[in-house]
This record gives sequence, structure tokens and C-alpha cells, in this order.
Amino acid sequence: MQLFVLLFLLSHVAMVTALSGCHSDRDKDHRPRENCTAAGFSDVPAGFEPSTKVLLFPNNLFSSLSWSSFQIFTEIYEIDLTGNKVPEVVSSILILPSLSVLRLGSNHLTSLSDGSFVACPGLTELYLDNNAIESLSDHTFSGLSKLEILDLSSNRIKVLPELMLHPLPAIETLFLEKNKIKVMPDDWFSQKEEVPYLYLSDNPWACSCSLGYLHTYLDDYELNVYVRDGPLIKSDAESVVCDSPQWLKGTPVMSVKDSDLCSTMKESAPPGDFDEPRWRSIGQFLGFSILSNDTSARGLLRTDIEPPT
Ligand SMILES: *[C@@H]1O[C@H](CO)[C@@H](O)[C@H](O)[C@H]1NC(C)=O
Repeated sequence: MQLFVLLFLLSHVAMVTALSGCHSDRDKDHRPRENCTAAGFSDVPAGFEPSTKVLLFPNNLFSSLSWSSFQIFTEIYEIDLTGNKVPEVVSSILILPSLSVLRLGSNHLTSLSDGSFVACPGLTELYLDNNAIESLSDHTFSGLSKLEILDLSSNRIKVLPELMLHPLPAIETLFLEKNKIKVMPDDWFSQKEEVPYLYLSDNPWACSCSLGYLHTYLDDYELNVYVRDGPLIKSDAESVVCDSPQWLKGTPVMSVKDSDLCSTMKESAPPGDFDEPRWRSIGQFLGFSILSNDTSARGLLRTDIEPPT
């Protein structure tokens, strides 16, 4: 009987201390969690245990990300602000060293400046999908040496900053599908060549000579390229298709021939005119023009290519 009374009192106390709109439980790894889904908050309410490790605020009314609001949670592991109205991430020297997962999908982000996430150098997962991000910089992700998952899908990214991946030596999964990317900078993956899960579909890839790096990369790492449908993923390197030029529209980048990738004239020039410029450039490379009437040059070429007898 006494036990029942005690249990009743305990549950009553728990109900009283829980914030309205939130419920306390534990995540799959038993971290103390507060779930305040769609509860109308615009900032972190007072009253949570400082030992809380997971704070979920999806579909609330946060209009800024204030790092200091989370500072009292000294062991914070995950913050979920999916579906709020955050317009920017302000770089801060304030540190949340334990933060591992940050969800900012479906907010109002339009750009991310240098060092946006230096406040949380321990991040392993960063979700920025379904925003309106147009621009990133070489230093947007500075300091994220442990980041394994970066989701930038469904944004308006036009240009991949040349050195954007350099601060991310641990990257394993990179979501870039559904953006406006035309070109991948040369050596973009040079810091960490192999990214095991790569999503590049639904971008207007421009299949010209400047896409040579991606073309070669896809050839080397074909099996790492995926598409997803909700939680289902499948390997599909042919999901990376040309949007331009018109005659290659819809062709998988991987199956475009090297010569077609670099032929800008194919559409306009009549057939048969292709070989001349190529021969001329080989001649220039060898230091003479094979199209000239210079007989010594022709002689040189002939002796060069004749098999020994
Ligand atoms: C949080 O609570 C909502 C209902 O309020 C539920 O739908 C959702 O699945 C919960 N989130 C997690 C991660 O348990």
C-alpha cells in the first residue's frame, strides 16, 4: 500500500515538473531526452534538468539559434530544431563541446558564413536540408573534424566552394541532391578521396570539359554513389545526369565519353571537322605544326612514329 502511495506521488511529481507541451523520456541509448514537438516555443524554456542530453523542438517557432540558450546543458548530445524559422547561424566562441547531432532542416537558412559551427566542434551529424541555402564558403564547416554526416540536400546551392570539404576529414555521408550545382571543382575530394555514401542526383550538371574531375571520380567511386527514397537507399551512379548541353541532357555523366565531354563544337560543327583541332594541339605540344608545309617537321613526325625495322 505504501509503495502504491509512493509511486503515485512520484508520478505526480514527474507530471508537475514536466513542461507543458513536452514529455521526458530516453533515447535509444538511454540519454535523458525532452521532446517538445510542435509546442509553440520560440526559445528553450526554463525548467529542464541541466543533465538533459537530447532536446527536441521540431515544428516550433524558434526564429534564431542562440547557442547560449543551450549552454546550461553541459552534456548536451543532440538538438533538434527541424521545422522552425531560423534564418541564420551566427558564429560564436561559445562552446557546446559535447554536442554531436544538430538538426536544422526545414528552416529559413539562406547562406552559411565562415565558421558557422565553431561553437560545436564535436558534431558528428549536421542536417541542413530543405532550407534555401544559396551560398557556402570554403570555411563554412571549419573546425568540424569529427563530422561524419552532412545533409545539404534540397537547397539552392549553385557553387561548391573549392575547399569546402577540407575541414571535414571524417566525412562519410554527404547529401547534395536537389540543388542547383553545375560543376564540381577539380580535386574537390582531394582531402578525403573516398566518401562511402554520396548523393549527387537532381542537380543541373553541365557536361563540359570542366566536369572532367567528376567524370573521372564517378568512374573510380561508382559504388559509393546513392539515391534515397525516405529511409531506403540504393547504389545508383547513373543518378548523376547531365542537364546541359542539350544533346547530352539526361545522359548519366559516367557514360559520357571523354571526347564528348570536351567537345564544345559537336552541336554546331559539321561532322569531320573534329580531328583537325585535336591534331593541331598535339602538334603544338610536340613543338611544331603538323599542318604546316614545313617538311622537316613532317620528317620528324614520320621518324617518330615509324616502328623499328
Ligand atoms: C516526440 O513526440 C512526438 C509526439 O509529441 C512523437 O510523434 C515523436 O515521435 C517523438 N519523437 C521522438 C524522437 O521520439
